[in-house]
Amino acid sequence: NPGLRLFDPAYQNTAVCRSTICDIDGDRGILRYRGYPIEELAEKSTFLEVSYLLIYGELPTTAQLDMWTGQVMRHTFIHTRVQELMKSFNYDAHPMGMFISSVAAMSTFHPEANPALAGNDIYKNNVRVRNKQILRLMGKIPTVAASCYRHRIGRDFNAPRNDLSYTENFLYMMDHLSEKNYKPNPKLAKALDVLFILHADHELNCSTAAMRHIGSSLVDPYSAVAGAAAALYGPLHGGANEAVLRMLEDIGTVEKVSGFLEEVKQRKRKLMGFGHRVYKNYDPRAKIIRKIAYEVFEVCGKEPLIEVAIELEKRALADEFFTAKKLYPNVDFYSGLIYKAMGFPTDFFPVLFAIPRVAGWLAHWVESIDDKDAKIWRPRQVYTGEGRRAYVPVDARG
Ligand code: SDX
Repeated sequence: NPGLRLFDPAYQNTAVCRSTICDIDGDRGILRYRGYPIEELAEKSTFLEVSYLLIYGELPTTAQLDMWTGQVMRHTFIHTRVQELMKSFNYDAHPMGMFISSVAAMSTFHPEANPALAGNDIYKNNVRVRNKQILRLMGKIPTVAASCYRHRIGRDFNAPRNDLSYTENFLYMMDHLSEKNYKPNPKLAKALDVLFILHADHELNCSTAAMRHIGSSLVDPYSAVAGAAAALYGPLHGGANEAVLRMLEDIGTVEKVSGFLEEVKQRKRKLMGFGHRVYKNYDPRAKIIRKIAYEVFEVCGKEPLIEVAIELEKRALADEFFTAKKLYPNVDFYSGLIYKAMGFPTDFFPVLFAIPRVAGWLAHWVESIDDKDAKIWRPRQVYTGEGRRAYVPVDARG
């Protein structure tokens, strides 16, 4: 019956595609990338290896990993025009705004990658062009992110160093010093690499659904990534780790935790970093991130607000209000504390989420192009507006 429509606001109960990339069991708190448990990948893999797994479907052989690493690290330089665009922003512009604009601008540089110029089905029919854009985005995103940060602190941009690993190079480009022989602390580089693995993909979250939605119009991947990053910018999604830290700073001390939770129960505040559309159990990523926090604190010094976070979690998980709604810590609850301890400014946290999530967005973009059922996304609505009515001239409108 063409008139029959399932009304499902925010797609809460709708599966819009088939996918083999990421599997989440929200009730049991399970997360797997291409079948591999997130715990094993976090412990044994690297972010670049995981990004290959997500995008191409299998763990790479040694030769494939060497090729992938070499190609990605050869695409880390960004066009000077993108840097000039960044320099045109105010110093206090939010880094996510600069990031989104710069990634969108990257779509203007490669005519061979522009479907309007190179042909509508360029990405369906030409895997070489598709892979080239994947390498460019994987290589350049950390440089764009680091350049946004450098502009923010009023420093020159650092050229990437391809002799360093992916995450070491990112930290190198970010660092205030960045003298030639500078090497990031290996423990911090490793901690950030694991955080990148944990943030790389998460099936059809808001920003990945946006990537598939925008990509379904066959637009280039730079424009689609910029749109996905815009969705991630929101405080209910990737902006949550920034919101968590502001919340912890607002509470300030362990003594004030119970008063804050009372306000949450009166629906005056949200407990940011808690709750999830899919997980109705502890987010497996949050468990790993809490462990990483203490490893980072050993190097950078303990972030005192961790005590407030631990007390919040303890009291919330012992409180019927939260457990009845199945509200548990999510990926954002502890990550902000790590980034703060590492010296990143609070408004840079969503950018640190976006960098690794580009791998997941690209994996879903590739899968949606190759999907034989692929169609432009165009959901319907339930119309509840006015019935037909005649136009009223302005002088007769009262
Ligand atoms: C991410 O989808 C993904 O996978 C996202 C992500 C990823 O990797 O991409 O995991 C990353 O975005 C994690 C989520 C980060 N956001 C936050 O931490 C913001 C705080 N969380 C909430 O806004 C909320 O939990 C959501 C948005 C994450 C999920 O909300 P839902 O599933 O739409 O649930 P809901 O808003 O309908 O809430 C159900 C009930 C409501 O109570 P009632 O009105 O029914 O009585 O729980 C309450 C909500 O008020 N509730 C909260 C709460 N989250 C939900 N109450 C207080 N504090 C909260 N954090």
